[in-house]
Amino acid sequence: MTEVLETVTAVPTAEESWWRQAAVYQIYPRSFADSNGDGMGDLPGITSRIPYLKQLGVDAVWLSPFYPSALADGGYDVDDYRDVDPRLGTLDDFAEMAAALHVAGLRLIVDVVPNHTSDRHEWFKEALASPKGSAARERYIFRDGTGPDGAQAPADWESIFGGPAWTRTADGQWYLHSFASEQPDLNWHNPEVRADFLETLRFWSDRGVDGFRIDVAHGLAKDLGDTLPSLAELETLAKDDGNHPLWDRDEVHEIYAEWRTVFNSYTPARTAVAEAWVAASRRAKYASAEGLGQAFNFDLLEADFDAAQFKDIITFNLALATESGSSTTWVFSNHDVVRHATRYGLPARNGNATKQGADWLLSGGTAPVLDAELGLRRARAATLLELALPGSAYLYQGEELGLHEVAGIPAEQRQDPAFFRNPGIDIGRDGCRVPLPWSRGGSSHGFGTGGSHLPQPDWFADSSVEAEDGAAGSTLELYRDALALRASLQSGEELEWIDGSRPDMLAFRRPNGWTSVTNFGTEPAELPAGEVLIASAPLEGGLLPGATTVWLRS
Ligand code: NOJ
Repeated sequence: MTEVLETVTAVPTAEESWWRQAAVYQIYPRSFADSNGDGMGDLPGITSRIPYLKQLGVDAVWLSPFYPSALADGGYDVDDYRDVDPRLGTLDDFAEMAAALHVAGLRLIVDVVPNHTSDRHEWFKEALASPKGSAARERYIFRDGTGPDGAQAPADWESIFGGPAWTRTADGQWYLHSFASEQPDLNWHNPEVRADFLETLRFWSDRGVDGFRIDVAHGLAKDLGDTLPSLAELETLAKDDGNHPLWDRDEVHEIYAEWRTVFNSYTPARTAVAEAWVAASRRAKYASAEGLGQAFNFDLLEADFDAAQFKDIITFNLALATESGSSTTWVFSNHDVVRHATRYGLPARNGNATKQGADWLLSGGTAPVLDAELGLRRARAATLLELALPGSAYLYQGEELGLHEVAGIPAEQRQDPAFFRNPGIDIGRDGCRVPLPWSRGGSSHGFGTGGSHLPQPDWFADSSVEAEDGAAGSTLELYRDALALRASLQSGEELEWIDGSRPDMLAFRRPNGWTSVTNFGTEPAELPAGEVLIASAPLEGGLLPGATTVWLRS
């Protein structure tokens, strides 16, 4: 315990507002670096790569779940919220990693998954072993079935991964799972559930965690009443008035107000960011200082590579952030969507990133035809624009290498429940979760000595850290240079648009004369006056080519 407390004191206590304009690097722990050769990334693997993260120039890392789990949903099915999966390490490994990150000046954010546990969690095992109506079942959402003998589900709802949202237990009752059947939804009306999560937040805060990413933050409060609506009825209900029985109910903010008292009992206050897929008008509440403090905005991730869409989204979200007193967040890639280098090389789909690239993946990567070069060129331009924006930028491991989505993973090697629950319709998210290539060759491209739990394609060699490190013009060097410049240029949170005559161009100025200009089109463009600091692709005869961003000091 003494050691843990020392770690906490070692947390860099700079300003409380470190998160407002942070560059946060998302690590999917099982696919980052494998220290013990079992084919699965682990916490000592992360610790060993801290020099890489430091050199990259990010401010913080966010770890997707590393808790004990059967991996029915890549770790978002948690068996025990206050431990480390033995395949990923131990609590001591966690302490070592947290301390090393802090020594390197990097903050640590961990994922909290409060909407559901796994079906192997002690509580769920106890619920199944206990009778109907017992206190153990009250921690979850159990109901009797309908029809003769209750053999039909309480309602015909579908889970988010496809297939039914209710599963029958051995004694005939049914439980709700908004995601896979291995992820039973918790009953947040139960005070024991509430108290236990406060304990979890303290547990990790005491171990030096600086912030939390809250999974499905809009799903906790539910009001099912005695009569359940049908799926058709559910679909007609408004989702933006706080009264939907399942999503984004107003009462959810009472939970986060309690969490806020825990966050604020630490110095510096612990931070949180909500993963809340809610109407934009409802996002500010999650992001308020009385609540979680920040909320993801996935709008750019859902947009096409298009100047008008980008401008509207940026303007809108900056205004929204001002309303909540928070700062906004920008995301192009994460562990749930097709990587942006690939999305931008496929025909525009106008929205819904989870669908963008889906046809291509389902075809095994053959149709529609991917323009890999154009996709990467646009991704680099988009990222350079993103890093010039006020607010936090959340970067997903591997995007700094310009990685594309991996297509053609054989069915027998796939892991994502979305694939298994939606045969032939959803190929799942494994293609962005393939272990990182650290070296051109060697076992699993340097990921570890024991192979890789998802197959790596041959083209990983040329996109590996080894191939890109020090290589002029590589995506890795672009990210390093851009992050270093961002750190030196960033001051206030203001953004001023610079009017131009071309609708396919976007230019804006930040404090200190820092100007970002993006050409979303194909025709080269004149640049405003100023010293060129960095460009996502070489300028051509002093002009800004298509699909390119440049930063200027003017
Ligand atoms: C959102 C997470 O990002 C995703 O990976 C997970 O499958 C669901 N929540 C369920 O926990």
